[in-house]
Amino acid sequence: MSDRSGFNIIAVDGGAATGKSSTSRAIAERLNLMHVDTGAHYRTLTFALLDAGADPEAPDVIPTVLKSLKLDTTIKGRSALLSINGDVPADADIRSPQVNANVSKFAAIESVREFLFNYQRSQAQVARDQAEFSGLIMEGRDIGSIIFPSADFRFFLFADEATRAARRAKDGQTDSIAERDKLDSQRKAAPLVCPEGAIRVDTGPLPLEGVVEHICGIITA
Ligand code: DC
Repeated sequence: MSDRSGFNIIAVDGGAATGKSSTSRAIAERLNLMHVDTGAHYRTLTFALLDAGADPEAPDVIPTVLKSLKLDTTIKGRSALLSINGDVPADADIRSPQVNANVSKFAAIESVREFLFNYQRSQAQVARDQAEFSGLIMEGRDIGSIIFPSADFRFFLFADEATRAARRAKDGQTDSIAERDKLDSQRKAAPLVCPEGAIRVDTGPLPLEGVVEHICGIITA
């Protein structure tokens, strides 16, 4: 690895179902990194906001609802999970059709992104504080552009739409990824972009192992 401090920050961005999570988890395992899925942050927050009766079409009241939510981190294996008011919701709850249908709408709201910004940046210190990790791998849509623009390594994953739809179906999820990508790419606040200087990786033609091998090769070169 290139960082002389020995602690690396690795940013992984890309659209829905481009393989970010499986790839990031496998790299975390190989290189002993703490893994953070910021898509899960937006999903967890969406779940809490819906539970509190918030509506993405009424963004003006959201800052008041956000004030009642306390964010913290629970470490489970190599993954750092977001807890809200002491609760980490079940995976099935944050990947439900209702959350799928609303998460991009909430994620486009400035106050929601501001609310998560400092929390997400603070995860670098959380990883440093856990002596066993040699770095942090964070995946999302704006990690290499907004959250950690100076990350040691920034990757941008992409794949053709048929491959992505097949992956979601295999996960048993109802999710219109093209629609979410459109919302994520066209929003004003932190849109999904390939950050300048990021390394583009086409995950369509490669099996997971091939993608992991390729990225680990770049990091450890
Ligand atoms: O990675 P995912 O599909 O679980 O992400 C869910 C949604 O969260 C996605 O449609 C957009 C939003 N998101 C975001 O806006 N910024 C991030 N850094 C991560 C996710």
